[in-house]
Amino acid sequence: MPTRIGLVTLLFAWLALTGHGQAATDREKLLNDSGVYGTFVVFKVDEAWWKLDQAARVAAAAEAKAVFQKHGERLTTDVYLLRGLTERADFFVRIHSTELLHNQNFLVELMGTGLGKHLANTATFNGLTKKTNYVPGFSDDLKTALKTPPDPGPKPYAIVVPIRKDADWWQASQDERTAMMKEHTEASIAYLKTVTRKLYHASGLDDLDFITYFETARLDDFNNLIIALERVKENRHNRQFGHPTLLGTVRPLDEILDILTQ
Ligand code: HEM
Repeated sequence: MPTRIGLVTLLFAWLALTGHGQAATDREKLLNDSGVYGTFVVFKVDEAWWKLDQAARVAAAAEAKAVFQKHGERLTTDVYLLRGLTERADFFVRIHSTELLHNQNFLVELMGTGLGKHLANTATFNGLTKKTNYVPGFSDDLKTALKTPPDPGPKPYAIVVPIRKDADWWQASQDERTAMMKEHTEASIAYLKTVTRKLYHASGLDDLDFITYFETARLDDFNNLIIALERVKENRHNRQFGHPTLLGTVRPLDEILDILTQ
């Protein structure tokens, strides 16, 4: 006969297994924990899609939405509109989960839908979130300054910059790299008020070393931030910066699907 505590435990186990009661907390964890796999997938809708009648596009979009919902128990997705801001692609998806396999299974199923068959996958980046490498070696003042300031409110723009470092960077000592990252941080800290950032490590998982992700309402600040970082020594070690840089707007999935079915 289960005790009351036993019943509560069983209830939580059932909630976890069925995916009920998950949503917000798990998303927060996936977005904030280290050891989480992030996949960025960029899609361009082909010409044939726009020639389908609207009812067929609406049905295909509903099928795609069901795939997002089905995989929602294992991963979290964010979608961004690129259409209009670049000729190269229409939207991208950022996926987080604790197993890269989950990201892949979701994408394979999405690509198999009626909408997916009309999507050209123009770029993909895979990375992993990790604990900080250099911050522990910073002064207490710099560490305090890095503690995220109050949320600057809605941030409609998202920017993704893939980065590859040169061999000299990796062969420099930890102290030398810490000194350069300290300079990087001092040059960029003022922008924390309006720019939020997330770093993914990609060495060995992709042709890149890092995927950097930013959200802001102030593209003018972001532009100045990049210029400030181009002036520090660490920038000399960037073998690839962008190519492609993605600049999109953060949108709910339904809004993106509406745009594709209008
Ligand atoms: C709000 C502005 C920014 C701040 C405060 C900031 C701060 C930092 C800090 C503290 C680290 C070290 C993390 C660690 O200890 O592992 C770091 C790493 C890094 N940042 Fe920034 N950053 C900013 C913007 C940018 C931008 C705009 C880029 C490039 C587009 C960038 C690229 C990188 C890269 C590639 C690393 C990893 C370096 C490595 O581990 O070798 N950061 N940043």
